[in-house]
Amino acid sequence: MAEQTKAAFYTEFGGIDKIQVGPLDLPELGPHDVRLQVKAAGVNPVDAVVREGKFAQVVPSAFPTVPGWDVCGIVEKCGPGVERLAVGDEVYGYVRQPVAQHGTFAERIVVPENLLAKSPEKLSWVEAGGLPLAGLTAYQSVIKAGQLKAGETVLILGASGGVGGSAIQLAKNVGATVVAVASADSADHMKKLGADFTVDYKAGPVAESIKRVAPAGIDLLFDAASGDTLTQSLPTLKPNGRLISVLNDGKGLVLPAGVHFQHVMAQPSVPDLDFLRELANTGKLTVPIAATFPLDEARKAFEQIETHHTTGKVVLVP
Ligand SMILES: NC(=O)c1ccc[n+]([C@@H]2O[C@H](COP(=O)([O-])OP(=O)(O)OC[C@H]3O[C@@H](n4cnc5c(N)ncnc54)[C@H](OP(=O)(O)O)[C@@H]3O)[C@@H](O)[C@H]2O)c1
Repeated sequence: MAEQTKAAFYTEFGGIDKIQVGPLDLPELGPHDVRLQVKAAGVNPVDAVVREGKFAQVVPSAFPTVPGWDVCGIVEKCGPGVERLAVGDEVYGYVRQPVAQHGTFAERIVVPENLLAKSPEKLSWVEAGGLPLAGLTAYQSVIKAGQLKAGETVLILGASGGVGGSAIQLAKNVGATVVAVASADSADHMKKLGADFTVDYKAGPVAESIKRVAPAGIDLLFDAASGDTLTQSLPTLKPNGRLISVLNDGKGLVLPAGVHFQHVMAQPSVPDLDFLRELANTGKLTVPIAATFPLDEARKAFEQIETHHTTGKVVLVP
């Protein structure tokens, strides 16, 4: 008989009411898999999109589906072909697989070894569990695709959320000036993370406020909010500026001449997780926690992330 674990899961696409919590069979441990005792699992906006069936063309689902792609946990069993990890290792990862089925919102999970890195010693389990997807998205967007350099000015839309908070810190780490856009309620939060200037998108069109603090223009616009705020921000880009969006695929966007556009979809990457671990271990990358919830309150965790106004990270602690 298959071993079981307590998990949050759903058996069909739909709203938060589809989520149940109870025992489920664990998948068999393949030769290159490890079994983790889950210590923390970050909750991301995409988990709700997948649950609603709106991500099925990118990542199909199989039911029952355990949601969740972020994890920090302890290795408690290794398949015979596992080479890099050992029982007792504390690991973290963005463990998205080709089919959404065996996610991280569970007490125990089975994960391919190649999706996991050693977790940052300086972070708590909760912080490490909240870092992978948001941190990888920010790093792969701002640093790798956006090529942000010392002395440049970056404009970050959605700067108070999980992705934006990592983006502020990564941008400061390379020596850029950061203009951070979110609501006024999050201004202190963004300043603490290193933002040089904050702009409140609720106080009216943002372009004038951005031009006031960055009169020479924006070198890199990192969009984790889109909508009117993105449209209003475009004229603040320098000629030949760069726009990286994790939401907008560019269709329907009227870009100023010369602007280089790229859509980024975060990818699992152990080398990138290793980079984030080193930065966290030097204290240059923190993970502000908005709220934690036990597995039994998985629905509440979804309610919070689906406000789309979370300051910091939401994390499940099984
Ligand atoms: N392509 C990818 O691979 C990828 C990866 C990760 C995330 N994403 C997407 O990126 C977005 C951000 O993710 P997240 O995890 O950071 O979400 P989050 O934690 O929910 O944060 C979103 C933040 O956006 C702010 N915001 C809302 N409307 C805004 C506006 N008009 N202008 C500026 N800021 C605004 C909110 O701040 P206030 O509370 O102050 O309004 C909130 O803090 C989500 O839509 C997510 O689906 C894409």
